[in-house]
Amino acid sequence: MATSLQFCFLFSTLILLTSTAFAQQSFRPKALVIPVTKDASTLQYTTRISQRTPLVPISLVLDLGGQYLWVDCEQNYVSSTYRPARCRSAQCSLAGADGCGDCFSSPKPGCNNNTCGVSPDNTVTRTATGGEIAQDVVSVQSTTGSNPGQNVTVSNFIFACAPTFLLDGLASGVSGMAGLGRTKIALSSQFASAFSFKRKFAVCLSSSTSASGVAFFGDGPYSFLPGVELDSDSLTYTPLFINPVSTASAFSQGDASSEYFIGVKSIKVNDKAVTINTTLLSINTTSGVGGTKISTVNPYTVLEASIFKAVTEAFITESAARNISRVNAVAPFEVCFSTENVLSTRLGPSVPEIDLVLQNESTYWRIFGANSMVYVSDNVVCLGFVNGGEDARTSIVIGGHQLEDNLVQFDLAASRVGFSSTLLGRQTTCSNFNFTSVA
Ligand SMILES: *[C@@H]1O[C@H](CO)[C@@H](O)[C@H](O)[C@H]1NC(C)=O
Ligand SMILES: *[C@@H]1O[C@H](CO)[C@@H](O)[C@H](O)[C@H]1NC(C)=O
Ligand SMILES: *[C@@H]1O[C@H](CO)[C@@H](O)[C@H](O)[C@H]1NC(C)=O
Ligand SMILES: *[C@@H]1O[C@H](CO)[C@@H](O)[C@H](O)[C@H]1NC(C)=O
Ligand SMILES: *[C@@H]1O[C@H](CO)[C@@H](O)[C@H](O)[C@H]1NC(C)=O
Ligand SMILES: *[C@@H]1O[C@H](CO)[C@@H](O)[C@H](O)[C@H]1NC(C)=O
Ligand SMILES: *[C@@H]1O[C@H](CO)[C@@H](O)[C@H](O)[C@H]1NC(C)=O
Repeated sequence: MATSLQFCFLFSTLILLTSTAFAQQSFRPKALVIPVTKDASTLQYTTRISQRTPLVPISLVLDLGGQYLWVDCEQNYVSSTYRPARCRSAQCSLAGADGCGDCFSSPKPGCNNNTCGVSPDNTVTRTATGGEIAQDVVSVQSTTGSNPGQNVTVSNFIFACAPTFLLDGLASGVSGMAGLGRTKIALSSQFASAFSFKRKFAVCLSSSTSASGVAFFGDGPYSFLPGVELDSDSLTYTPLFINPVSTASAFSQGDASSEYFIGVKSIKVNDKAVTINTTLLSINTTSGVGGTKISTVNPYTVLEASIFKAVTEAFITESAARNISRVNAVAPFEVCFSTENVLSTRLGPSVPEIDLVLQNESTYWRIFGANSMVYVSDNVVCLGFVNGGEDARTSIVIGGHQLEDNLVQFDLAASRVGFSSTLLGRQTTCSNFNFTSVA
């Protein structure tokens, strides 16, 4: 009896798998697209995908270096296709979860026996807790690169369940975080394997809280109105580095960081090199301290204290040479100026340029006024960098404001990141993707 029941179960699973595979083959998307919106009160970047059966749209904080999708399963999680991952299953092994857990309450999403668990991480507040690994349906829009096309579905999308309290500190209305980091179950990895994409994805953050930016999964070219096509020829590439020591709030010894590190070798202000302690620029492979990472959960670039001091002093000197005068600081910024002698240009306020010099002198990430400065009032503009203190774990964290209106592509197969530099220079912005669907 037990055997025949088991057989029945296996049999129906097989049919399900076959029909899913067929559905996915009948339309093979070239790439996927999701909107990315800047939340005005938290400055977090949020996205929206659909999940569950029946599908419901869920809003999530986008976390470039995050490990996976985690969702609040404690509140309003209703789905006929929710499946907890059985311990020692393939899903658990992809998630790097070797344990086996029970839950002493009635069974529901997030609470099942014989499942494996991970530590979903609120990377904004740096809080982690335990959560069950599960699978459910996820649906997003496909794209040819210039408009959204038909919706596509991944029926067994792996994610972690979290309790409601883990949402504390996140933008209102979100139900979790969408991690695009270097793991086998990051959204980017699961989409790439479900649709056989090249392991590439791109983010383009909007500087406006009223017009969405975009993230793409799969290869370009990516198009922005009015007809600006960005492909690999439009980008400057620099190698990606792996930090062998996890930067998550909770991790096991031996775990590498899921975040994206690049190699900044020096910093220039107005084309002049700033003197900084170069030891801080490389990753200490024993402690994981140092180096430069890219983050969408930090609204502004964070610099280790001595780097912050050196860069801001150079910036103040170069600004003074342009008769731009300093005024009182406005938190969280330490360096602010009167707008009196600051001209407005297409690339933002005309101030000294800041270059992050990469693998060689001719490869640098140039930060113009639109990405370096923040208007705090009509008369005051501040340098949009913050002081990370002396014991900063990562010396340079390139944050949201500095990424806005730049297309940044992560090419994992080639282990490199490509950046467009400011799209304002190409007469477009990250909010110019045409979200009108073509069926
Ligand atoms: C898990 O198993 C324990 C012990 O058998 C039981 O008390 C508990 O209710 C079960 N929990 C769930 C979620 O099934
Ligand atoms: C496709 O998904 C979007 C949101 O992701 C939704 O607004 C739209 O209604 C869906 N279209 C269809 C045809 O299901
Ligand atoms: C440079 O930074 C490293 C790492 O923090 C520190 O050990 C060293 O003393 C610093 N060197 C100088 C000259 O300050
Ligand atoms: C790297 O970190 C280890 C452990 O904290 C420390 O002993 C070592 O001195 C550091 N190396 C450098 C080059 O700073
Ligand atoms: C700066 O201001 C001083 C005095 O107001 C003036 O003499 C000088 O020409 C100005 N320099 C620039 C670069 O505008
Ligand atoms: C600098 O690096 C880029 C990209 O890796 C490479 O194409 C270029 O040849 C290098 N330039 C020099 C002067 O080494
Ligand atoms: C956006 O795309 C739609 C569908 O292809 C097209 O009809 C519309 O003209 C486009 N919008 C602009 C401003 O080009």
